[in-house]
Amino acid sequence: MPLARSLSVTSLSGLEEWDEEFDREDAVLFEIAWEVANKVGGIYTVIQTKARLTCEEWGENYFLVGPYMESSVRTQVELIEPCNATLRRTIDKMNSSGCKYAAQCDEPPHIVAHFHEWLAGLGLVLCRQRQLPVATIFTTHATLLGRYLCAGSVDFYNKLAEFNVDKEAGDRQIYHRYCLERAAARCAHVFTTVSQITAIEAEHLLKRKPDIVTPNGLNVKKFSAMHEFQNLHAQSKARIQEFVRGHFYGHLDFNLDKTVFLFIAGRYEFSNKGADLFLEALARLNYLLRVNHSEVTIIAFFIMPARTNNFNVETLKGQAVRKQLWDTAQTVKERFGKKLYESLLVGQLPDVSKMLDKEDFTMMKRAIFATQRQCLPPICTHNMLEDSSDPILNCIRRIGLFNSAQDRVKVIFHPEFLSSTSPLLPMDYEEFVRGCHLGVFPSYYEPWGYTPAECTVMGIPSISTNLSGFGCFMEEHIADPSAYGIYILDRRYRGVDESCNQLTSFLFQFCQQSRRQRIIQRNRTERLSDLLDWRYLGRYYVSARHMALAKAFPDTYIYEPQEPTSATGFRYPRPASVPPSPAHSLHSSPHHSEAEDEEEPYDEDLEVEKDRVNIRQPFNLPNRNKNQTVGLPEKN
Ligand code: UDP
Ligand code: G6P
Ligand code: GLC
Repeated sequence: MPLARSLSVTSLSGLEEWDEEFDREDAVLFEIAWEVANKVGGIYTVIQTKARLTCEEWGENYFLVGPYMESSVRTQVELIEPCNATLRRTIDKMNSSGCKYAAQCDEPPHIVAHFHEWLAGLGLVLCRQRQLPVATIFTTHATLLGRYLCAGSVDFYNKLAEFNVDKEAGDRQIYHRYCLERAAARCAHVFTTVSQITAIEAEHLLKRKPDIVTPNGLNVKKFSAMHEFQNLHAQSKARIQEFVRGHFYGHLDFNLDKTVFLFIAGRYEFSNKGADLFLEALARLNYLLRVNHSEVTIIAFFIMPARTNNFNVETLKGQAVRKQLWDTAQTVKERFGKKLYESLLVGQLPDVSKMLDKEDFTMMKRAIFATQRQCLPPICTHNMLEDSSDPILNCIRRIGLFNSAQDRVKVIFHPEFLSSTSPLLPMDYEEFVRGCHLGVFPSYYEPWGYTPAECTVMGIPSISTNLSGFGCFMEEHIADPSAYGIYILDRRYRGVDESCNQLTSFLFQFCQQSRRQRIIQRNRTERLSDLLDWRYLGRYYVSARHMALAKAFPDTYIYEPQEPTSATGFRYPRPASVPPSPAHSLHSSPHHSEAEDEEEPYDEDLEVEKDRVNIRQPFNLPNRNKNQTVGLPEKN
């Protein structure tokens, strides 16, 4: 029997160990997902952000397999000839046989095939059914049935253990897909999912407990100066403000300097993503701000793709009117400047009363006339195909948030993902997030939830929930998350109305922060980035592959799970400047400052030990027992 190779993850990212003990020539990794170079939601982000680290580990022996989408291939893929002879032969064979048959070589390398989600899961099932010598991993990023059940009015978390899964899948006409997912989960060498809460769900709905939880990471951009990301916030905010000037033309009766930008973004799953709760909380916030005569205006953006027939005329007109006002101001400024120059040339101070002539006034009057509008600023930026049945629009109709002058809370629904080439709001998603003040993601069903994680690494505070993988992860690793701008809404032990009140109170408190307090809070939020870096979180994927290799090729590999150490279960301490009692520090974050409008980025914690952690061991994810999971409050 050949000497078995021992695989374990003991170093910072697991890569050094791998380098020493693993012969890359001898193994090949395939990662297969519907979202490879095909953006749908967060799985795309997993694959895209993780690629660099996986390449560092596997070099040219790493292959991503996804659907062939012409437009994505043109924009995201660089076409090259395979340099690996085995792969060359395989591809030739696939081509010549109409893609029906592959994987023939003289000395097969050890293959790891990592399948994501049920769509790719069929490949895994066939690998196993045909007994191919391949180490297989299946990662589910949600369960199909869970997503469907939650989108209905089912009391999901209370009933997890009781569902008749076959019947429920059949009733929802997803039985065939459900079976595929369950088969892939069941027959994989290693089964993983993205969070502990989804692990429990998978155990009940797919009938297999995941072997490893593989939390989602990000590529964390390190700035040399702390204020650099603050500057980016200011720059992006200025661009959002410019858009708002156009959108609210004729109704700009609020102070943009005292306007706070909130947003929710993601696939359009109205109640799973908590858009329902957010809208209801906004209505309550509107009331609170009005009765308190607050000077603050809130603009809440909803970025959720729906079926549309392009931008609507009123929205485009808003930007055109703004541009026209800008052009008019520039023209008048130039004419003014010319007159001033000529006056100075002849040694005279200008006669101010003659600096603007009739023509200038006519031009300005015409421009002002164009800003008159009969309607309120639009809620939706696009023509919706299903306007009358759209859940966001219907909810807005019900709660009456119509962007009227009295409303302190304004709403803009952008039913398309953002793009820097948009004629309306030419910003990519990252720029937009940086320019906002708070991301609001009150999800009911959210296996991980990249959107709040992305906010964190950009130093933007966010609201998530204790039913989302991200929220639970942060709750576990940070002593006082709200002090760091990570607000975790309780949707687990409270009813919907109570959760909504809590969300309203988070939002109301956030609106009361001064600029200085927001700056301090952003500094703290950004400090948590390391926790979400693939450099640390990538180790779980490394472990999953080692485990799969050891199971598929036991004569060659041995998997050595790690012993927990003192570093396991690390928690970020409460920021030193926050009062020690949780009761006082909860949602409080920075001290109140008299310098309300401090312009300089200020970090009162700079003297305090930088909370960047040196995490050397996988986190000890909580081992919740079934009884804790079941017994959650009713979802009304
Ligand atoms: N996203 C985007 N453009 C947008 C809005 C969202 O690219 O205009 C991305 C966002 O960056 C995130 C993903 O969509 O990575 C949503 O992932 P998440 O895990 O939050 O939810 P999912 O859609 O997978 O359920
Ligand atoms: C950043 C910039 C500051 C700016 C501030 C605005 O910190 O560096 O110059 O004043 O953002 O913060 P606000 O929360 O009001 O958008
Ligand atoms: C799924 C989940 C989301 C998760 C993403 C990536 O789409 O809905 O919560 O972040 O996958 O794992």
